[in-house]
Amino acid sequence: MKKEWSKNNWRNFKIKQQPTYNNSNDLKLVEKKINKLPPLIFAGEVRSLKDKLKKVSLGEAFLLQGGDCAESFSDFSANNLRDSFKVILQMSAVLTYASSLPVVKVGRMAGQFAKPRSDDFEEKNGIKLPSYRGDIINDIKFDEISRLPDPNRMLEAYSQSAYALNLIRAFASGGFADLEKVHNWNLDFIKKGTQDKYLDLANSITDALKFMKACGFNKQNVPEFKQVEFYTSHEALLLNYEEALTREDSLKGGWYDCSAHMLWIGERTRSLDEAHVEFMRGIENPIGVKIGPGVEIDYLKKLLDTLNPSNERGKITLITRMGSENIYEKLPNLINKLQENQNSVIWSCDPMHANTYKSSTGFKTRSFDKILAEIEAFFNVHHQEGSFPGGIHLELTGLDVTECVGGSQKIKEENLSDRYHTHCDPRLNASQGLDLAFKLSEFLKVKRG
Ligand code: PEP
Ligand code: CO
Repeated sequence: MKKEWSKNNWRNFKIKQQPTYNNSNDLKLVEKKINKLPPLIFAGEVRSLKDKLKKVSLGEAFLLQGGDCAESFSDFSANNLRDSFKVILQMSAVLTYASSLPVVKVGRMAGQFAKPRSDDFEEKNGIKLPSYRGDIINDIKFDEISRLPDPNRMLEAYSQSAYALNLIRAFASGGFADLEKVHNWNLDFIKKGTQDKYLDLANSITDALKFMKACGFNKQNVPEFKQVEFYTSHEALLLNYEEALTREDSLKGGWYDCSAHMLWIGERTRSLDEAHVEFMRGIENPIGVKIGPGVEIDYLKKLLDTLNPSNERGKITLITRMGSENIYEKLPNLINKLQENQNSVIWSCDPMHANTYKSSTGFKTRSFDKILAEIEAFFNVHHQEGSFPGGIHLELTGLDVTECVGGSQKIKEENLSDRYHTHCDPRLNASQGLDLAFKLSEFLKVKRG
């Protein structure tokens, strides 16, 4: 049974990783405005995502979640969004073809604006300023005014999310995602070898479609051939914003955070007696929880009792971000104990956040090989424990950036400065994303026999 809950009760709890707004009247005004704005997503869509995640929890589908570490106001454009959407479609085609499993596509998109930071302050050339906390809070420019938290940025984040969602919905169902266009999703800069592999796969899909057509299955009677379902997600960090978009469903009741279909709680804000868990326990959306190597089993059981007291299937995705060595050491016990306790969870792997380091050239980066090693460890452990490796959570973009080293383009530390554009953590580019999908599809194939 869920304890009594209201959408603003989180305000009575201790909270981490929040901005301090100078003008509380401005903040209240913005909250009031957002309260009146239309929801960005609808409860019915959340329910359809939950049905799909139920399948993931049963091992009958695979979750692909990915996008920017931090979306920004300045980099937003139709082309950038289209290209990130394309990579996810490509990766999903590769994974579906290899595993024969439907892929549930969830973008870190249309709302991924608030960032937890390791340090409250940033120091450069002897000047100390508040850290950048994401475009929904302050500006990345390094000067005093820019770093002041401004509540009006929430309105801009809302608008950009609405523009992005509008385009995503058009891409998903307006012909762009038609499986007959599988060749067109390719991006020019993808490394030749990877392109060839993808084109081979696209040809096989086209042949399969011809065969299906001959059997009487076509776009008219199988809508999945001409459109995809694509969902949005972000870290529910800035609770003033999340609360203002939380609405009661007029059809079936229950409270939905209508800022995105799926929300997650970050590694730094998931304490049991704090505001984020309090807020998230009351919403009907599927919830992700990031868990690092320090997580304890007793805590995890309590967290699941709090967030999912009825043990609803597909409700909770535990997103492990531990590093490959820690995965071997920690994950088996967590899986065993939750199995013993009959907790239903989806296990997803975030191979990005425990693999960040500073390059010799001074850039925050990640190595493709390390990322791959964590994914392989994740699959090995689940295979060994008899559980289902249900998903992957990636920071990636459709742009030709040079932020992570390795992959078939063989990006080196010396190349990082060429096109290093991220506002926060380093992302895989489209070529590296596709490289990863091919590797991942081998793991998925092997594990399914
Ligand atoms: C993130 O996903 O960008 C992030 C900050 O992750 P974590 O909470 O796992 O550190
Ligand atoms: Co990140």
